[in-house]
Parts: sequence; structure tokens; C-alpha cells
Amino acid sequence: MDARPIGIFDSGAGGLTVLHECLVTMPHEDFLYLGDGARCPYGPRPAEEIRRFALEIASYLEQSGVKLIVAACNAATSAALPGLQEALAVPIVGVLVPEAHAAVQATRSRRIGLLATEATVASGRYEEVVHALDAGARLVSVACPRLVPLIEAGDVGAELDAAVREYAAPLRAAEVDTVILGCTHYPLIRRVFERAFGRGTTLVFSAEETAREVAETLQRKGVENAAGRQGTTRFFTTGSAEEFRTLGERFLQLPIEEVERVTVRELELAAA
Ligand code: DGL
Repeated sequence: MDARPIGIFDSGAGGLTVLHECLVTMPHEDFLYLGDGARCPYGPRPAEEIRRFALEIASYLEQSGVKLIVAACNAATSAALPGLQEALAVPIVGVLVPEAHAAVQATRSRRIGLLATEATVASGRYEEVVHALDAGARLVSVACPRLVPLIEAGDVGAELDAAVREYAAPLRAAEVDTVILGCTHYPLIRRVFERAFGRGTTLVFSAEETAREVAETLQRKGVENAAGRQGTTRFFTTGSAEEFRTLGERFLQLPIEEVERVTVRELELAAA
């Protein structure tokens, strides 16, 4: 038994999709969610900068006493996961491997598509993992720089719909049968992707696969909280608490009483 909370972080609200699946799978655990709203989006940033931000946040969470950290951001996972695991004592679960694994299992044609941020596509990590699992599988990747800013702005209008269709077009042309939605923000607009690809394409989202991996990790290490209790979640943001609360409540369909502010300076000091 281990009563410490689980830390989850993202550049903004995208990691809430992972938090949601964790709440469904592990309602007895406590969570501490940190969104780096002041520095979102991470996608257009160089890998070195994303690595620095991820180390600051993970150090802050570790010093807050969490028992496990979920890097609920594909950009941070693809740029920083090995470095975080080397630097910190607490176990860290990322979002990339569980998704690649699910996609390789699901595809029949062995032609897989990837939609993600520029940083994730540029890292080439999905190619590496997919090919390690099935050297004969082909991955077609498309970077989607317009999606995270539109999602964070709560924009679900014609511009978002058109952008998703534009990014989906090369994957449809390549006749992939499975598409990895390689950014934790994307399940927030799940229906837009479902319409763009139609019934014939399997969409793989990271959140469910990641929650399963977190639950298994806690179980195998013997650090689960007491079964039967009702866990709690605390929310932190470096950005606007009010904006985070509005987006968070709408997505989670959960009343969020308080969003606590943490400054970028506090994060920097945690890693100093
Ligand atoms: N949710 C982050 C991801 O999964 C978004 C990255 C960004 O801020 O651009 O990649």
C-alpha cells in the first residue's frame, strides 16, 4: 500500500485525456495534474527546450512527493523520456510506446498513419518503436501545427474541422487502415477525427493504453493505494487558472473547485 499521489503533466489541457482514463481505471488513487499553460504549445519548440521544460516539471512533481509520474504529452515523451528516467528516482511512464504497440496490433494492411505535433514527428520516435515491433510495417507521418492552439482556445468551429481534414488527406491517400493520434490533446476533439476518417479506419488514442500501463506498473511494484477509497485530484497550471478550469470542466465533465497556480520560476528552481 502506498498513499502517495500520481503526478501527471502536459503542456496544457491535453493530458486531461490521460487523467480521465486513469480516473476510470484507478478511482482509488490520488492525482496531481500539472499543465504548463504559460509555455504551451510545446510542438513548435526545439527538442532541447522541451527536454528542459519536462525535467523542470518532473522534478517539481517528484519534490511534491508523487510515487509515479505520467508524461502525458507526446512531444515531451518523444524528446525527454529517457533523460527523465535517468535523472529521477521515481518511475516515469510515457505515452508513446503503448500507442505504437496498439497500432501494430490493430493494423491488417501494415500501413499505419501518425498525426502529431511537429516536435513528435521530427523526433522519429514512432518510426523507431513501430519498426522495433514490426520491421515490415510502414508509417506515414503528418505534422499538425494548427491543432493544439485551436484546441487550447476551445475552438471547435469550421477552421478546426478544415484543418483536421487537410491533415487527414495524405493518410487517406496512402490508404492506411490505422491512425495513431500521437498527441494527448487530440482525444479532446475525438469526434472531428472520427468524421474525417470514417468507419473503416482504426483510430488509436494514447490515453486508454497509458492508463492500463500505469495501473499495471503500480500493481507490479506493489505501490497501489487502498482499494475501495475515493481518490482526489489537485490541478496546477502555470497559465490562466480560470481558462484551465473552463476547459478542464468541459472536457472531464467534472466540477473543478480549485486550480492552483505554479510559476515557471518555481519549476525552474525545482530542476536547479
Ligand atoms: N499534448 C501535447 C502532446 O501530446 C501537445 C504538445 C504541444 O503543446 O504542442 O504532444
